Amino acid sequence: MTASTFIGTDIVSVKRIALLLKEHDDRFKVKSFSINEIEYCDGKANPSIHYAGRFAAKEAIKKCFLSSDLTEKLGLNKIEIISSENGAPVVSAVGDYEYADLIVSISHESDYAIAVAMLVV
Ligand SMILES: CC(C)(COP(=O)(O)OP(=O)(O)OC[C@H]1O[C@@H](n2cnc3c(N)ncnc32)[C@H](O)[C@@H]1OP(=O)(O)O)[C@@H](O)C(=O)NCCC(=O)NCCS
Repeated sequence: MTASTFIGTDIVSVKRIALLLKEHDDRFKVKSFSINEIEYCDGKANPSIHYAGRFAAKEAIKKCFLSSDLTEKLGLNKIEIISSENGAPVVSAVGDYEYADLIVSISHESDYAIAVAMLVV
């Protein structure tokens, strides 16, 4: 079978995430992030920036999956992004979906975070 490749991208306002964290804190965190992701972001000097980066990465991954025939919906809490020892983001899980490869890259500045993802099925 020939492999198919899908890409996704997203940009997230750090201010918007900071507001969600301020107003909903645990409810927002638990709805969109795993325990590992929460530990990672909360351990940083400015958690909002890292939550925004992971949020953008999840939306980018979601776009990859929605572009493919794998699913028509995907909750952000089904996606987990951990950090490897050198700091690179690694997708550890997307529900029970099977795929050949899924890579993501995150970047953030004080105002915005962006991410791009590539899925190979
Ligand atoms: C990795 C690197 C390119 C990040 O660039 P940056 O401009 O500082 O930061 P950006 O906002 O663009 O990107 C940050 C994101 O890069 C990703 N990242 C970090 N290390 C990475 C790596 N080795 N490979 C790929 N992606 C990496 C992470 O997802 C990080 O966000 P997160 O911590 O919220 O997950 C840069 O730190 C670098 O060159 N590191 C090399 C090692 C180094 O010099 N370390 C110095 C530590 S004192």
